[in-house]
Amino acid sequence: MEALLSWLAETALAEWVRLSRWGYAAINALHVLGISLLLGAIVALDLRLLGWRRHLPLRELGRLLQPVAIFGLLLAMTTGGLLLLADPNGYAEMPLFRLKLALIALAIANALLLNLGPGLAKATPRRLRLAGGLSLLLWPAVMIAGRFLAFVDG
Ligand code: HEM
Repeated sequence: MEALLSWLAETALAEWVRLSRWGYAAINALHVLGISLLLGAIVALDLRLLGWRRHLPLRELGRLLQPVAIFGLLLAMTTGGLLLLADPNGYAEMPLFRLKLALIALAIANALLLNLGPGLAKATPRRLRLAGGLSLLLWPAVMIAGRFLAFVDG
């Protein structure tokens, strides 16, 4: 793993990410755009899962908000991978970065378990509340961990 990360750090793309001030800033801005789309869509959906605005049809809301959330997540993951290139070994050694990745994995697993299991249409209200509550805790925790990365040493 360490060898792979060291190899990544020496690629031309990694060098560019490290040295290009505006390139790094642009990737960072796209990372934040992805996060905004993901959190904006997912928080609205989670509140509905928790029982808020019950009159709004859940399937229709899911059809609107889930693609936005998935696009945001894919954008955040792609740009996050590019930001990581700036110092792959350094980030891999940071406990907070590892925590962030573990939280992302848990949040994705939570969404997949609902959607590949009963699905929005067939899940019981209790199951929907569980998934919505977990999601409302996990995604903001990922965001906070990401923001705090710039303020912790190692
Ligand atoms: C595999 C996916 C991801 C990777 C590899 C990744 C990686 C990174 C890296 C390397 C940074 C720069 C940290 C620094 O300042 O030193 C960063 C920043 C950040 N990440 Fe991610 N990230 C990913 C997904 C996400 C997601 C899904 C969220 C939110 C839900 C998120 C939230 C943030 C935030 C808020 C920042 C700080 C941005 C800023 O203040 O400019 N990240 N990420």
